[in-house]
Amino acid sequence: MYNATSTKELQSAGSSFLKALPAIDVAQIEKLRDVLRFHEYRYYVLDEPLIADEEYDRLYKALAAMEKQHPELVTKDSPTQRVAGALNTAFPTVSHLVPMLSLDNSYNADDLVDWDRRVREGAGQSEVDYCVEPKFDGASISLIYEDDLLTRGATRGDGVQGDDITTNIRQIRSVPLSARFSDYGIQQIEIRGEVLLTKKHFKAFNDKLAEQNLPPLANPRNAASGSLRIKDPEEVRRRNLEAFLYNVSYHVDAGVPNKVLETHAGTLKMLWDLGFRSPEKEKKVIRGIKGVIDYCQTFEAGRDDLPYEIDGMVVKVNSLELQDKLGMTTHHPRWAIAYKFKARQATSKLRAVEFQVGRTGAITPVAKIDPVPIGGVTVGSISLFNEDVIREKDLMIGDSVLVERAGDVIPYIVKSLPETRNGLEQPIVFPTDCPQCKSKLFKEPGEAVWRCVNIDCPAQVVERIIHFVSKDAMDIRSFGEANVRKFHELGFLPDIPSVYRLPFDKIRQMEGFGEKSITNLSAAIETSKQQPLHRLIFALGIRFVGETTAKTLAQQVSHLRDLAGLSLEQLQSIEDVGVKVASSIHQFFANNANLKLIDELETLGLNLQRGQQATQAGGSLHEQTFLFTGTLSKLKRSEAEAMVEAQGGKLLSGVSSKLNYLVVGEDAGSKLEKAKKIPQINILTEEQFIKMIGNQ
Ligand code: IVH
Repeated sequence: MYNATSTKELQSAGSSFLKALPAIDVAQIEKLRDVLRFHEYRYYVLDEPLIADEEYDRLYKALAAMEKQHPELVTKDSPTQRVAGALNTAFPTVSHLVPMLSLDNSYNADDLVDWDRRVREGAGQSEVDYCVEPKFDGASISLIYEDDLLTRGATRGDGVQGDDITTNIRQIRSVPLSARFSDYGIQQIEIRGEVLLTKKHFKAFNDKLAEQNLPPLANPRNAASGSLRIKDPEEVRRRNLEAFLYNVSYHVDAGVPNKVLETHAGTLKMLWDLGFRSPEKEKKVIRGIKGVIDYCQTFEAGRDDLPYEIDGMVVKVNSLELQDKLGMTTHHPRWAIAYKFKARQATSKLRAVEFQVGRTGAITPVAKIDPVPIGGVTVGSISLFNEDVIREKDLMIGDSVLVERAGDVIPYIVKSLPETRNGLEQPIVFPTDCPQCKSKLFKEPGEAVWRCVNIDCPAQVVERIIHFVSKDAMDIRSFGEANVRKFHELGFLPDIPSVYRLPFDKIRQMEGFGEKSITNLSAAIETSKQQPLHRLIFALGIRFVGETTAKTLAQQVSHLRDLAGLSLEQLQSIEDVGVKVASSIHQFFANNANLKLIDELETLGLNLQRGQQATQAGGSLHEQTFLFTGTLSKLKRSEAEAMVEAQGGKLLSGVSSKLNYLVVGEDAGSKLEKAKKIPQINILTEEQFIKMIGNQ
């Protein structure tokens, strides 16, 4: 962490480095490092940045420039020293200083009551203080600091030996490269923790994969453990991993008596004070098991509101002396137990596999299973992404399968259970022809996806229109998938422009279309003409161009047609646009049919220019942040969120001091409680929110 005692000083010091570079000496360069460490800590540990990313980048560059001039002044814990080149050898195997044991599990209140009885008996006490904290669902790591410097980071491995992944650990910016353990009289220390991806970063990562037609990562846990083994530290850095540190397994004192490490809560506080992301804010010290059970259950009820996945709570005896006295078995410590939340897994039977044609012609196998409830939702259909997934998971029709649905993650099949087969299972046969237009399917070398390459394939046309009108694209409310399909079948919707030429006189005659629904639909279609340019770019369905890329592209041009004028090189020079994406965009605009489509949309009155609509950054909620919690009664959550964004406001995924407004519906839970404790958050009812939006 940073060294300066005054955070005020660090806050103001940054700007002086940007005005003019001072004469470079040891003191100045170290001061700038400290400024950077301070801002890394605010951003990555506290999630409360004080400066814009660009300003941080400029400070970082200033430091890098100073260090380049004076390589002799570079230190191992300089913020510039996280970066590293690609690794070309395997990760060396290393031994842990103390074996990394697992935890004993409990699944209900009775299990905890039994465990508490055993602890009290072992302790010879009538009541015991426990420290309760989340059980992070990630990949275990161990870190060693010697003389205040991070010297090693390792995976758990088999508990005795793991992989040395120091280079990758250094890419996690909430892990300090140096920490003043010496202030606590500690010379060497091994700490344990968990690396994970927050839900937000996991989603962003999967969105990126989806933009490239790649199957998403199954869950944040797999994503974290996979990320730690990547040979390219740059890529590790881009994944924005988070590290929670929660245990000290071993330490060597520097001769000074160690006063702090008397309780587990004291350990968490020490780690927190040294700049680690320990569960200092989430933990609670509770006397007696009754309160422990309550705390576990409260956390379970609010698990979806947390920014990261947890699969339970860990209850630890708070006194370290008592921990020692209780000792451990060969498998787990007796002084701790995991309280596992209800699994979000279930088994079911795979009955059939259907093959769907996507808007780019990709054929997606979809598993149809006997519907099962998982975490409050009934799951009956699960995407299998491509043929390779079917082979890798060894799936057969009739198999029992293990299904998981973690938090916001889409459900997926974890594995088949071949041991339960009875011989009647049937292989899954991948089609050779398009299930819709019957043309032959193709697969490009190196790709896993089979495609129907007939661009007039009716299935693709319908999917393209469904995508065009969808929420994240042109957002034409009241134009659901079913109506698109129906209108297409009736010949009203042969292509995208026909969305704006629907024969309402004919639709009015159809069953199920009252005057009100027709007015709504036609108003929604009319309004969509004014959508911002990035939505139209996304709506066009250019391969590999997802929402993020569409936004980047929209910022580059003043008119949609300008994109057609960009060369491959120019496209590739745009940030985040690689060779593959660039050539797909280039191909799209080189196609006359697509240029004709764009002309037609312009003639129909759609906005093709950047900055032509009222929803730009200057909207009346500009920079204001919102979060919705509980059930809204008048608006759909998605509608309310769209209203905020339409006026330039931003949505946050969790309660923090960055939040300006929390809009509270019925049955609001932990978010409301948390927000009440942060004075700068305005809490609004749904009615107040509607009024506010109306007044803007
Ligand atoms: S304490 C000696 N605390 O859960 C016991 N473990 O299922 C050290 N885990 O291997 C573990 N959150 O990787 C502890 N707050 C927490 C944890 C936690 C997640 C993991 C850890 C452990 C596994 C056991």
